[in-house]
Amino acid sequence: MTVVTSKFARVDNELYETEEWATEALLRHFPVGPDDRIWEPAAGNHKIADVLRAHGAKVFTSDIAAYDRRHDRIHDFLGEKRIFPADSIITNPPYGKGNRQAAAFARRALERCDGLVALLLTAKFDFGNTRVDLFRDNPRFLAKIALIDRIQWFPGDKSGTEDHAWFVWGREDGFAALRGWPTLIYEGRP
Ligand SMILES: C[S@@+](CC[C@H](N)C(=O)[O-])C[C@H]1O[C@@H](n2cnc3c(N)ncnc32)[C@H](O)[C@@H]1O
Repeated sequence: MTVVTSKFARVDNELYETEEWATEALLRHFPVGPDDRIWEPAAGNHKIADVLRAHGAKVFTSDIAAYDRRHDRIHDFLGEKRIFPADSIITNPPYGKGNRQAAAFARRALERCDGLVALLLTAKFDFGNTRVDLFRDNPRFLAKIALIDRIQWFPGDKSGTEDHAWFVWGREDGFAALRGWPTLIYEGRP
């Protein structure tokens, strides 16, 4: 079944679709494969999920709304339930006013997954003293992948006013703790 939602629902839920190259940029540094059970919890039209699947990963999709693609579950990720035991969570979440929804997504993702968490966020998301629990004081914070090209969010979008980056966290007992410092990587379109 194809579910078509109104333009209002798309705008209201912040449906912006991630171009393939941006996910490929993440996977060049944090590859996925057939052993990975990944949860895409704000899957939209599966733009990220499709790239992960093309790399062989098993991807569980959920979203608060249905668009053109069928999700495994309709689910509010900011609610109480953890519906999938993921090894990794990878998504471009809604940002919300003052990035507050994005911060809530990041905290929920870290609660629900003790493996790799990768979120595509605005480039300065790690700035600000209200998020030190996610970055400065978080031993799981591994890497920031700064995208030096701008993402086109829809066909014909020439605005490109905002820079973005992937923020990546790993296991508590993993190499983040051993190495001590997060890595900064620059990436872009091929
Ligand atoms: C920026 S879009 C990204 C879509 C997809 N991840 C991609 O990168 O193409 C954000 C998505 O988050 C979904 N969303 C908004 N609030 C949500 C919530 N509380 N729980 C789960 N999904 C939510 C929207 O419906 C939308 O599909």
